[in-house]
Amino acid sequence: MSEIIKKIESELLSYLPKSENEDIKKLISSMEYSLMAGGKRVRPNLVLAFSKLCGGSEEAAMPFACALEMIHTYSLIHDDLPCMDNDDFRRGKPTNHKVYGEATALLAGSGLLTLAFETVLSEKSVKLNGYEKCVRAGRLLSECAGTIGMLGGQMIDLESEGKSVTVEHLKEMDAKKTGALIIAAAKLGCISAGATCEQEAAAETYASDIGLAFQIVDDMLDITSTTEELGKNVGSDMENEKSTYAALLGLDKCRSLCEELTEDAVRALDSFDGDTEELKNFAYYLLKREN
Ligand code: IPE
Ligand code: IPE
Ligand code: MG
Ligand code: MG
Ligand code: MG
Repeated sequence: MSEIIKKIESELLSYLPKSENEDIKKLISSMEYSLMAGGKRVRPNLVLAFSKLCGGSEEAAMPFACALEMIHTYSLIHDDLPCMDNDDFRRGKPTNHKVYGEATALLAGSGLLTLAFETVLSEKSVKLNGYEKCVRAGRLLSECAGTIGMLGGQMIDLESEGKSVTVEHLKEMDAKKTGALIIAAAKLGCISAGATCEQEAAAETYASDIGLAFQIVDDMLDITSTTEELGKNVGSDMENEKSTYAALLGLDKCRSLCEELTEDAVRALDSFDGDTEELKNFAYYLLKREN
């Protein structure tokens, strides 16, 4: 495992609450179960990479990175519930509700969502970033995770099951359900580093392109991969009659679309003065990923 992922994971663990109450301990252990189950840590990595590119400190960006990973993990716990995608495998392990039951999984998701804001506004985060950046980060997180962001995208996803929809419809759905958190990752790194408006705008373009490609690749892997390789159920989209790019356009068109989006993303990095090699490679890694 890379050094940076180790650091992210030890920091994530440090933010988990502690309690002597046995019932609350069970809730915390269900939160820890999903949070520490692995995962690629794409979003916190992006926060740190953009902070570095814009001259920020890793230590200061870390609470923002962890908060976003908590929100992402919460979205996965809820996404897997029987009333949503009804999946029983995630990050190579049984889903949260399979181990802890649906009610606890619901609370674990909500626990991680609220912990994210506690983390952004923690004493440590405020000391390292200052109040102003923490307020901006908190506002950005609530917008991207909220009704017109990730949650709105999840609602469009549910409402699109079994329907024939347009590419424009899918684009809006994916931009919200997946793009919003990925754009937030890039912007949180910029905010922590005190980047300029121009840098933030370029970061947003990069993230919106890789974000859309990321969801299209996810939909393709649901068709082409195996549960062992992916660490989550395959064939889930077909079973739920999901509307996806892969279902609408076919795998070949999706592949070339993802390549174009990745090239556009990489081009957006040209407006930065610093070393963009890491973010360039990251875009290609996401394009070629197999899990
Ligand atoms: C899965 O996200 C859900 C999508 C938005 C496609 P990831 O593929 O980043 O999942 P983990 O964090 O690595 O488990
Ligand atoms: C999920 O999209 C996006 C989220 C907001 C969690 P999917 O439903 O395709 O994600 P997976 O394939 O279950 O990870
Ligand atoms: Mg889903
Ligand atoms: Mg799902
Ligand atoms: Mg999927």
